[in-house]
Amino acid sequence: MDKAYQKLIDGNRRFALEKKFDDPEYFKKLSLGQKPDYLWIGCSDSRVPANEVTNTESGEMFVHRNIANMVVHTDFNLMSVLEYAVNVLEVKHIIVCGHYGCGGVRAAMTNKTYGLVDKWLRNIKDVFNKHRAELEQIEDLDKRSDRLTELNVIEQVQHLAETKIVQKAWHDGRNVQIHGWVYGLNSGLITELKAVYDDKGDIDPIYRYDFDK
Ligand code: CO
Repeated sequence: MDKAYQKLIDGNRRFALEKKFDDPEYFKKLSLGQKPDYLWIGCSDSRVPANEVTNTESGEMFVHRNIANMVVHTDFNLMSVLEYAVNVLEVKHIIVCGHYGCGGVRAAMTNKTYGLVDKWLRNIKDVFNKHRAELEQIEDLDKRSDRLTELNVIEQVQHLAETKIVQKAWHDGRNVQIHGWVYGLNSGLITELKAVYDDKGDIDPIYRYDFDK
């Protein structure tokens, strides 16, 4: 048996034993249902695991991850997750978490092709283009990419506020908060970049929906 593979099965047995040892009812309680307070939208990068970096347990966080933590309004996968999280699970916080040293963001700054992911990264090129003046001032490419990572997170927070799903929740008086974070791979620390609590802020009128008709 391949060692890398067997490690997972062994790890699982140990996990189940330890959890049951700490709390014999642990899995029984979890099996009754989930009521997470948070929706996490993060990068697929193996170094940014949602639960570990926030010190949360099974059942606390509903998770969606894709390359470079994007919120693309035509992405039915993400939109299904978002709708379910907001309307059924009734999460209180939606977190977009990017990370410094993001390969997806870095790749989007180049002219290389990587396959299908080029189309996905095209969305980040648009963020670059929008902030070109600021980004081109930064000579160091790692620093430029880290700044693009931050701008990209802020952009995705904005995209969430522009969805009908989130706006309807606000309209119905529900306090859904959107947070933009960036995680430092070399510090383990999260920096809070932006938070949006309601539709009073800087959502362009063209993205606002009317619910009172
Ligand atoms: Co990444």
